[in-house]
Amino acid sequence: MAVLETIYNLFVPAYDTRPEIFLPAPPTSYTIRPLAEKHLEEVMRLNMRCFKNGENYTKHTFAYLLNEPNALAYQIVTSTNKMAGFICILMGEDGAAHITTIGIAPEHRRRGLAERLLSHLEHSLKVRSIGAVVLEVRVSNIAAQSLYRQTGYSVVQRISNYYNNGEDGYLMMKSIL
Ligand SMILES: CC(C)(COP(=O)(O)OP(=O)(O)OC[C@H]1O[C@@H](n2cnc3c(N)ncnc32)[C@H](O)[C@@H]1OP(=O)(O)O)[C@@H](O)C(=O)NCCC(=O)NCCS
Repeated sequence: MAVLETIYNLFVPAYDTRPEIFLPAPPTSYTIRPLAEKHLEEVMRLNMRCFKNGENYTKHTFAYLLNEPNALAYQIVTSTNKMAGFICILMGEDGAAHITTIGIAPEHRRRGLAERLLSHLEHSLKVRSIGAVVLEVRVSNIAAQSLYRQTGYSVVQRISNYYNNGEDGYLMMKSIL
């Protein structure tokens, strides 16, 4: 039974739609580090907390992203080495990179951590001669849209029916040349 459950969880994300009750984390310092396959379980747990409406990635997808040579992934950790956030991107051969996911633990939000991850990512991409970053965001995800606008992204297209539940998405882009 446990084996069947493990296989099932590789492909089907289990998610809890109930809003989480949390207290802001005590003040701490944060460090950005590479996110690797050895962090798979921890990033999965955080991913489940960040994405409550079924848009969370499966373990299978994360395992792919953490092993794909054209992907970059980072975590931001507290002074006690607890993962507070993560970001994954895929670099295309067209000189553009695609942010596939970004999430910050609820108790660490509004401390500039997502901005720090985006800025770190841009630096890593410039070093690799990547000139543009693209991403999709739900039209209902106002927090993420504000973050992206604040960090220089613009909407280039509205994509109808982009998400599994039929919701539209915005394609956003930033030139980092
Ligand atoms: C979106 C998300 C990554 C933002 O992370 P964060 O670390 O709290 O963001 P930051 O503290 O770096 O915010 C930077 C700026 O973004 C904007 N912003 C971030 N969260 C916001 C919110 N809830 N409402 C309005 N603006 C917001 C603000 O302009 C903010 O600057 P300010 O705090 O000085 O006003 C986080 O809310 C999250 O993990 N959400 C769930 C997962 C998700 O939706 N990911 C994006 C999928 S496309």
